[in-house]
This record gives sequence, structure tokens and C-alpha cells, in this order.
Amino acid sequence: MTDRLSDKLALVTGASRGIGKAIAEAFAAEGARVVCVSRKQDALDEVASGINKNYPDMARARACHVGKMDQQDELMDWLKKEVDIPDILVNNAATNPYFGPMTGIEPSAFDKTFEVNLKGPFELSRRFANAWSETGQKGVIINIASVAGAMSAPLQGVYGMTKAAIISMTRTFAVELGPLGIRVNAIAPGLVETRFAGALLNNPEIKKFFTDHTALHRHGQPEEIAPGAVFLASDESSYMSGQVLFLDGGYTIS
Ligand SMILES: NC(=O)c1ccc[n+]([C@@H]2O[C@H](COP(=O)([O-])OP(=O)(O)OC[C@H]3O[C@@H](n4cnc5c(N)ncnc54)[C@H](OP(=O)(O)O)[C@@H]3O)[C@@H](O)[C@H]2O)c1
Repeated sequence: MTDRLSDKLALVTGASRGIGKAIAEAFAAEGARVVCVSRKQDALDEVASGINKNYPDMARARACHVGKMDQQDELMDWLKKEVDIPDILVNNAATNPYFGPMTGIEPSAFDKTFEVNLKGPFELSRRFANAWSETGQKGVIINIASVAGAMSAPLQGVYGMTKAAIISMTRTFAVELGPLGIRVNAIAPGLVETRFAGALLNNPEIKKFFTDHTALHRHGQPEEIAPGAVFLASDESSYMSGQVLFLDGGYTIS
């Protein structure tokens, strides 16, 4: 364990698996206490106990559907009463219920994608920023965007729209919260091996399209995204705000 995040408390959404789990583990390894959030308490408890085995008492788990505002309110109340308001918020949880051309999406799938991927991070950021401004805490927000938010995203168009909006949200929050010393940045991963990317990775043609268009000619692993989040959470990035860190193997420049 090194100590780039010692004395920090972080909250990571979507921490039950994939990129969020890797970020929560990397934060704990750097000395941060971590609150792991997703919808499923059992899966979260497993992640938290794995972290606590290596770093005793560093992780807690709390179920919350980030798209449900009443559950966000309960999460904030629980944090205030039982933990503390974290210094670092990682908006990582996302969903993509529809895979296909944009003309075919059902309104319910459109709404769900926006509710979880955009309204969730927006409202959680707002709640954290308001709590920080009351206490003078100089918090850090890290939003997990996607290369799909920076370019066209065939078959994932509405998902890409939410990620483009996350990038816009990152920039405007950075400007509005900068005077309070709050930093807001985003990470845009390329194709990373997680359950989420299954629809892409399990289709040889689509997988080949992505790897052929990636400078490094391969997909990434969650552990290759987490160090970027450690950097953005730590004082090593103290003069960085409103930026998007592309961790995509060179997908967006190929
Ligand atoms: N994998 C990629 O290729 C890739 C590329 C670019 C960007 N990203 C982004 O990276 C982030 C993480 O994705 P991943 O690939 O690590 O996916 P993943 O392995 O499927 O993990 C998704 C996480 O989000 C949680 N989650 C889903 N809906 C939720 C909700 N409504 N409320 C709270 N938590 C919820 C899931 O847990 P529960 O089921 O317990 O809720 C899980 O912990 C996402 O923002 C995604 O858009 C991924």
C-alpha cells in the first residue's frame, strides 16, 4: 500500500464489479476508506470484505439505485449519520439496456439509460457539491464517461448520448465548482473487459472492429482504468479540472 489517498474517504458507484470494483480496490490500496455502492447488497458485501481482508476496516458497502432519487436521499442521510460525507465521488455506475440502431429503441429503455447514466450522476454530484459547499470541503468528482460520448456510437447511440452529456456536465460543474476548490474530471475508457462490454466482446466482428481501430490493437482491463482514477482523486492532479482522460488504448486517435 502506498499513501496517495491516505485520510481520504471515497464513494464509488457501480463498485460491485468491473471498473468500479477495480477503482475501489485501487483507492483502498492507496490508503483511502471506500464506500462501495451499487444495487445489490450481496455483491457489494463480497467486494467490501475482499478489500477489508487486505486493508482492514477500509471498505463499507451500501445498496443504492443511483437513478432513484429517494434512494440517493437515503444514501446521503446514511453517510451523514453513520460515515461522513466522502471527499471523493466516483460516478461510475451505468447501464445500457438496448443494443441496436437508435431508430429501434423503446421509450422505456431510453428513459432508463438517461435515468441511470445521467440523472443519477448529476443528482449525486449536486448532493455532494452542496454538502461540500456547506462544510468548505474541497471535494473531487470523477465521472466515468466513454469513448462513445466523444464520437459516433453505432448500436449504442443513446448510451453514447448520455456519455456525451456526462462530458458536458463534467466541464460545467468544473467551472461552477472550481471557485470552491472542487475539481471535476472524467475518464473515457475504450473497450474494457467487463460484463457491461459482453455484447461487444462476445461478437467477434464487433470485437475485431474495436481492436483494429485501437492503436494498441487490444481491449483493456479494469485494472488499467483504475490508476487513472487514483491520479484524478489524488493531489497529483491538483491543477487539473474539467478534463477528460482518455484511457482507450488509442481508440479515439486511430
Ligand atoms: N466496459 C467497457 O468497455 C466500458 C467502456 C467505456 C465506458 N465504460 C463505463 O464504465 C463504467 C463501469 O462499467 P463496467 O464496464 O465496469 O460495467 P459492469 O462490470 O457491468 O459494472 C456496472 C456496475 O454498475 C452497477 N449498476 C448498474 N446499474 C446501477 C444502478 N441503477 N444503480 C447503481 N449501480 C448500478 C452494477 O452493479 P449492480 O448490478 O449491483 O447494480 C455494477 O457494479 C460505466 O459507466 C460504463 O459506461 C465501460
